Amino acid sequence: MTENMMEIRDVSKIYGPLRALKNISLDVPPGQWLAVMGSSGSGKTTLMNIMGCLDTPSLGEVTLDGVRLAKLSPGELTAIRREAIGLIFQQFHLIGYLTALENVMVAQFYHSMVDEAEAFDALKKVGLGDRAKHLPRQLSGGEQQRVCIARALINHPKLILADEPTGNLDETNEGTVMEILHDLHDAGSTIVLVTHAPEVASHAERIIVLEHGRLVSDNAGKNGPPPADPAKSPGAAPANEAVGEASDDGAAIGDDAAVKAANAASDPGGLNPTK
Ligand SMILES: Nc1ncnc2c1ncn2[C@@H]1O[C@H](COP(=O)(O)OP(=O)(O)OP(=O)(O)O)[C@@H](O)[C@H]1O
Ligand SMILES: [Mg+2]
Repeated sequence: MTENMMEIRDVSKIYGPLRALKNISLDVPPGQWLAVMGSSGSGKTTLMNIMGCLDTPSLGEVTLDGVRLAKLSPGELTAIRREAIGLIFQQFHLIGYLTALENVMVAQFYHSMVDEAEAFDALKKVGLGDRAKHLPRQLSGGEQQRVCIARALINHPKLILADEPTGNLDETNEGTVMEILHDLHDAGSTIVLVTHAPEVASHAERIIVLEHGRLVSDNAGKNGPPPADPAKSPGAAPANEAVGEASDDGAAIGDDAAVKAANAASDPGGLNPTK
């Protein structure tokens, strides 16, 4: 048993002249709901890919549930991803010749064993009970995204990585997805959610902000307990292990504003944004 679900130490990701991530260090305790914000190109997806065993850092170290990922073979990384992680990524396409139901059952197959009734229930939960037999091309973009969500959550993953999971959804379906995430969080899952939307980020216990590949804001201290009420935390991010790093590109401007906006949008009664 490890203290943190995820430990990221001095992680950088380098693409030629570009450092997409710069010396990121981050601990995510088990059961925490962490939101990742930041402008387009700031490195959010790059970080999520590394957390989700889809990519490896150029420098630094990642430990997932006590396991150092650098020590694992590609096959072992794939196994961890299937066993422990639920990925809700937009680029994770559905298999075109399988129905919505079969797409969810594929995830069960790779994890343990298929259970059609359970897969159907997962689709019903995301409001797609009447679309189970449709092929992806017969579904709208938002419906396809909800199939991906059902597929990611069917195996009750310990860690849920969601990259703009509500990006394609209307308000009602966004509410449905947030409720599902709350249920999983209540059941003990750790959630890391990338979003541009302050209202979506406000569901999280902790919000970090990336800017030009640096972690520039963190509204929970390193390993500290999440603030009970984010609206009560001081406007400036306290005790941020990375804030002290001067940004060489002046990227910190506006980061606290992003956290403040998310905190302002925080609504304890907002678990039911649907009508
Ligand atoms: N495979 C790659 N090769 C080269 N550069 C890349 C690659 N992947 C990402 N980048 C660059 O790394 C930077 C961070 O990209 P990333 O996708 O992590 O941004 P993001 O914060 O998720 O942005 P968005 O909000 O638009 O999704 C960008 O400048 C991007 O162009
Ligand atoms: Mg992205």
